[in-house]
Amino acid sequence: SNEDRVNGNSKQKQLDQFRVDDTDKKMTTNQGLKVSGDEFSLKAGERGPTLMEDFHFREKMTHFDHERIPERVVHARGYAAHGEFKLYESMKQYTKAKFLQEPGVTTPVFVRFSTVAGSRGSGELARDVRGFATKFYTEEGNYDLVGNNMPVFFIQDAIKFPDLIHAVKPEPHNEIPQAATAHDTFWDFVANNQESAHMIMWAMSDRAIPRNFRMMEGFGVHTFRFVNETGNAYFVKFHWKPTLGAHSVVWDEAQKLNGKNPDFHRTDLYESIENGDYPEFELGVQIIEEADEFKFDFDILDPTKLWPEEDVPVKIIGKMTLNRNVDNVFAETEQVAFHPGNVVPGIDFTNDPLLQGRLFSYTDTQLIRLGGPNFHELPINRPVCPFHNNQRDGYGRQTINYGQVSYHNNSLAKNTPKPANEQEGGFAHYQEKVDGNKVRARSDSFKDHFSQAVLFCHSMSNVEKEHIKDAFSFELGMVKSKSVQQQVVDMFANVNLELAQNVAENIGVVPPESGGSVITKTSKALSQENMTKKPDT
Ligand code: HEM
Repeated sequence: SNEDRVNGNSKQKQLDQFRVDDTDKKMTTNQGLKVSGDEFSLKAGERGPTLMEDFHFREKMTHFDHERIPERVVHARGYAAHGEFKLYESMKQYTKAKFLQEPGVTTPVFVRFSTVAGSRGSGELARDVRGFATKFYTEEGNYDLVGNNMPVFFIQDAIKFPDLIHAVKPEPHNEIPQAATAHDTFWDFVANNQESAHMIMWAMSDRAIPRNFRMMEGFGVHTFRFVNETGNAYFVKFHWKPTLGAHSVVWDEAQKLNGKNPDFHRTDLYESIENGDYPEFELGVQIIEEADEFKFDFDILDPTKLWPEEDVPVKIIGKMTLNRNVDNVFAETEQVAFHPGNVVPGIDFTNDPLLQGRLFSYTDTQLIRLGGPNFHELPINRPVCPFHNNQRDGYGRQTINYGQVSYHNNSLAKNTPKPANEQEGGFAHYQEKVDGNKVRARSDSFKDHFSQAVLFCHSMSNVEKEHIKDAFSFELGMVKSKSVQQQVVDMFANVNLELAQNVAENIGVVPPESGGSVITKTSKALSQENMTKKPDT
């Protein structure tokens, strides 16, 4: 009902239809036949062989044999909860997204936190990036904010993602190690793809070992677009700020926790919710006017760069509260399918080359992970608003569409679904003017790999700097190739010479003598030199 929608109950009401309570029920087969025994298979004589006609045995065993689905190719290890998002302040000026119009309105959400590299059973305290994926079940369709706990990323272009992940995952010849950041291929990738410098500073910092999911920030990473009712667009970056503040453990604690309780993070999330200590995150936005697109000393579409909060303040616009654990981890946490391409009118994409590639990848992977094109019908993935189109059939189809006609346009059935115009809520892609030659390239400022890594280093306290040095020394110390170790310390001399020299001494390679060209430049000088040029079109 409308009231449920306004109160944010619509998703729970919808899920109720699928929840099954088995208490005090007789056991049946999947055909509904009551079974008379579940401990002995049907045999020819008490000491004889099992009979082929034992349909109960066959059904039970076949289902078991098919219980596993592929784990996510990345972010396999995750944990999720339900909640609601409540808007503080209308964003009407910037976006027409309906769930961001009226202060006080709540929207049901489902959030999954994850590590990136480890397999489904890996320890949760790994030094790794954390996924922070939120599905908003809005009245205009699902809006997914599929973010991480760090504001930047390792690479600038999606075409490198398979390379990055092949380098991060356990090495293929021996599947060692599970640890994302402690092996040769990871560091070899870093040294030979130096746009990773800024992200590596985050990954070697305490941010990569959060104390728990409740005390972790989240970032949309990419630059997105807000579009308002009059069609004006703004660049926007999204932030989640935990009301408990951002906290980490130190490495020694992380290792002990991982040994004693590899489920430490999920346990904390589950128990906090059971105890009524609901995790809360405020949603913040950074907004840049279209006219200011080229006013920065970096390309605002470069996902290895953040927008300094001193220059573009974060405006807090609402709060998300996680207040309900899942009833079944497989049905909800495992089967949920997030996709950065799930947007609603008023939120749109930019030409960030990492985002553009993600728009392809998620559906593609879910088609195999969730077994065909109907995973939108799984209870956790269904929007709370109705969905209608001419898509039909496919494995596991649940919807029963009726009528003779499943195509558009037609004359036989006048009442089939028709596209909506903008006034009727139809999604109108932002009409950005695009003009250019086909090239495999990107603007020059994408080549500045170090200035924000330097800024990150400057922003650290002495204790944090010590932790970063220790992390580099430990992780890089695990690498067997001296050449890779040397390449990495030489690379990070461009970020902080002292750091690189200390790490080199700790791991027994040659301390770099200078940081090369970049280190001698202040960030200001760099910015003047590297000013993003507006393309002359
Ligand atoms: C999961 C691809 C970059 C956040 C995934 C999955 C794929 C993928 C294939 C598995 C999805 C599934 O099985 O349901 C990519 C590609 C990227 C990229 C191709 C770059 C081109 C990023 C970035 C972020 C991110 C930059 C953060 C802003 C996530 C999260 C999940 C995920 C949070 C887990 C979602 C969940 O909990 O189910 N990614 N990813 N990814 N990705 Fe990415």
